[in-house]
Amino acid sequence: MWPVVLILALCIPVHGQIDGEAAYANFLRWRAVPENARLTWQAATERYAAKLTADGMAPSEARQTMSIIASRDEAVLYDPVYAGKSPSPQTPTALLVEAVKGRRPGKALDVGMGQGRNAIFMARHGWDVTGFDVSKTGIAAAQRHAMAAGVKLNALVLSDEEFPFGQAQWDLIAIIYPIEKRSVFRVRDALRPGGIIVVECGHKDGKDSPFEYDTNELLRIFEGFRIRKYEDTAGAHEWMRKEMRLVRLIAEKMP
Ligand SMILES: C[S@@+](CC[C@H](N)C(=O)[O-])C[C@H]1O[C@@H](n2cnc3c(N)ncnc32)[C@H](O)[C@@H]1O
Repeated sequence: MWPVVLILALCIPVHGQIDGEAAYANFLRWRAVPENARLTWQAATERYAAKLTADGMAPSEARQTMSIIASRDEAVLYDPVYAGKSPSPQTPTALLVEAVKGRRPGKALDVGMGQGRNAIFMARHGWDVTGFDVSKTGIAAAQRHAMAAGVKLNALVLSDEEFPFGQAQWDLIAIIYPIEKRSVFRVRDALRPGGIIVVECGHKDGKDSPFEYDTNELLRIFEGFRIRKYEDTAGAHEWMRKEMRLVRLIAEKMP
């Protein structure tokens, strides 16, 4: 019984938040046992969630832990990319370059920052940048690139489920080719009045698109914001390296 209690305790630091890294590591250890390794992802996560509650974790915390585990697992796809095993875009997204032009630098957040191409661009232009990503390899690359560029970056290995977006914290939030849609719903509160949100992503109806934005959905989510730019158009998807239906948004929270 004690080892189980100890593992659960290690997942929850004193401030009450779940330690995503420990939670994911514990899951991987459990998953490595041959009888669990045989399970599909869905069966494994269902069984592990049941085990967490059977071990005494509150159901709401078990749900949150499973969501963090699923988010952290995305790194399995991206670590090899950032290790250079396949190509990834290196230059900043044109939409972001356009969004910051002529703007007074402030505090910026790069959601799912990858190897930091956009974060470093902003830092070079005087922004105080924080970025997070589930990929340790991506964050390590971002830190290396920032050092080489002589800029400071606050780069964190975290999932969107763990990162504290806060209230009225940021002058700019960049969500560029995200893999999940949750973060966009945290932006309204997290931006300072006058701050901007910059999103570029595939449209839900794009061929082979793994993304979720429906027609005009971003406009609905940011109703009440001043829309600086909105596009729903065919364009070169920087990550999938092909023409796709893309959505682009620059919107400002009203002061
Ligand atoms: C398509 S890449 C875009 C990276 C970067 N924004 C860019 O455009 O270069 C998606 C990134 O999101 C990260 N990611 C996926 N799910 C995540 C999550 N739940 N929380 C944080 N980062 C996540 C991946 O590791 C990956 O680096």
